[in-house]
Amino acid sequence: MRILIADDAPFDARPGATVGEAEIDALYASTGPLLRLNFVATLDGAANGPDGVSGSINSDADHQGFAAMRRAADVLLVGAGTVRAEEYGPARTPMVVVSRHAQRPESVRDKDSVVLATTRASGAQEDERTWLCGEETVDLAMVLERARQAFGPHVLCEGGPTLAAELVAAGLVDELGLSWTPHLVGGSRGAHPRILDGVDVEVDLTCQHLLEEGGTLLGLWRVDR
Ligand SMILES: NC(=O)c1ccc[n+]([C@@H]2O[C@H](COP(=O)([O-])OP(=O)(O)OC[C@H]3O[C@@H](n4cnc5c(N)ncnc54)[C@H](OP(=O)(O)O)[C@@H]3O)[C@@H](O)[C@H]2O)c1
Repeated sequence: MRILIADDAPFDARPGATVGEAEIDALYASTGPLLRLNFVATLDGAANGPDGVSGSINSDADHQGFAAMRRAADVLLVGAGTVRAEEYGPARTPMVVVSRHAQRPESVRDKDSVVLATTRASGAQEDERTWLCGEETVDLAMVLERARQAFGPHVLCEGGPTLAAELVAAGLVDELGLSWTPHLVGGSRGAHPRILDGVDVEVDLTCQHLLEEGGTLLGLWRVDR
């Protein structure tokens, strides 16, 4: 992986320099509370491939960034739609799944390390694995607060586009990790959403770093406040 931009890197990071796992981990390390989004997209902006999942549009370089961001995180936050579409299993890092309908996706049904965050209106009962956060709609700020209290300050949201747009709209997101992989999928927005889908947002960001390997561009941006 080579550095294109990494002005604030905690090591000597000249453009063109090659970096390995230790340096990539250092670029994604954090101190203090953080909500970071991580997505992969094609060069034409699709967040999934022809088969409707992101596995068909990612790359080795994207995997390296994905793994580094997971190592840096205390807890993962994922929308139920992504868990269903991608058949997400539990990870080494604890996971909180957001669902309005409180339907625990099959792939995490009996997994103690996975919490479902939902509403009182869903009829679900509060317990260690089920958090009631909000009446009719899920209060995402409350989910974040509970996730931090239970697991630690650094929250990594791995999508999907509906949840990510709502988190950005609520002003809760601090950083965006995004890989562009050298694919084009065309098609419609309905079949291939962008990385944010649903509510409108208007947010500017500042580039923290940009890396390249095999035609994948791997970036990290900080939301301007
Ligand atoms: N490129 C990438 O990096 C990436 C990452 C993740 C996903 N994806 C792709 O994105 C697609 C799925 O998109 P999506 O927008 O459906 O994903 P999503 O945001 O994970 O799922 C939407 C569902 O999650 C729950 N949800 C989301 N936000 C909520 C909120 N604020 N309050 C309550 N519930 C909320 C709801 O579940 P209930 O219906 O259970 O109430 C909603 O129907 C798939 O094709 C997947 O492969 C791509």
